[in-house]
Amino acid sequence: MTQPALSPRFPNAFAEAVHAGLSKHPQKELPSMYLYDEVGSALFEVITALPEYGVTRAEERVLKDHATDIVAAMPGDIKVAELGSGSGRKTRRILEALCKKQPTAYHPIEISRTALQLCRRELSDIERVSIVGHERDYLAGLSEVSSKRNEGERLLVLFLGSTIGNFARLAATRFLRSIRGMLQPGDALLLGTDLIKPLPTLIAAYDDPIGVTAAFNLNMLARINRELGGEFPLDAFEHVARFNPDARSIEMHLRAKRALSVRVRGADLRAEFREGETIWTESSHKYAAEEVAPIAADAGFDCTHQWRDDEWQFAESLLVAR
Ligand code: AVI
Repeated sequence: MTQPALSPRFPNAFAEAVHAGLSKHPQKELPSMYLYDEVGSALFEVITALPEYGVTRAEERVLKDHATDIVAAMPGDIKVAELGSGSGRKTRRILEALCKKQPTAYHPIEISRTALQLCRRELSDIERVSIVGHERDYLAGLSEVSSKRNEGERLLVLFLGSTIGNFARLAATRFLRSIRGMLQPGDALLLGTDLIKPLPTLIAAYDDPIGVTAAFNLNMLARINRELGGEFPLDAFEHVARFNPDARSIEMHLRAKRALSVRVRGADLRAEFREGETIWTESSHKYAAEEVAPIAADAGFDCTHQWRDDEWQFAESLLVAR
């Protein structure tokens, strides 16, 4: 997730991504990372509480039930890094189990300063934990944490919440390989993956009846209006969640309800939409539990343990660097 060099034509990476994504043909797209400004992050927190979105609760159950087993599977002197700390709620279970054994350094890595502050507030009451936040992208932050360690210390990297699902499949393997490249043999990655489940359950999770996910998606256009002087009429677009059977992913799109032309001054762009045309904003890939080990092996890890939630179908896998 290293940012490409900016062209002088654009004020920031968001403007450049909006220009590139809305100029694409035949499928316009916007990178899902831009869903998470302050409003989007707050809406995502609400999504995690929706009855239809079982991902977060499933992972919380797995970590509540198995934190002690996870920690037992990683003996020795452990330091913890987390890619994308989120609110820190799920991480509490792991840190509490570790801190019972040893004082533990926890390094959340996040590009959002607000998220790092929230996470510190959420977790700093744990006895014997020390929190060192890194306001960096995942790989830059991980490289920093991994290179500064005490003799004999093993690194446990947390990549929770099925965020790996938001990468295309090949990109996911590439990303795991990049993580592996920053680790030493014996270090481990705890990886959360949402598993494939019946279609109606999946669709409801990404198109909830009270419209929180729709608001989360539409906020992308609202953000373009706020930050880049965009002129998107928000009522001209609707949220769509659909399953892509080839990719085994749920895709979120924003569909134009009528033909229209939209100017985005800050991205030096006028985008034309046909009625029914969509902007692809996110893919959430769903895995079979058995798929994780071969993907991990391809990236240089052994999948030594897997803990599953059967109520929602979610897997937490411990991948040990070879
Ligand atoms: C962050 N990520 C794992 C969520 C997911 O399930 O793909 C983002 C999300 N998008 C819509 N609802 C939740």
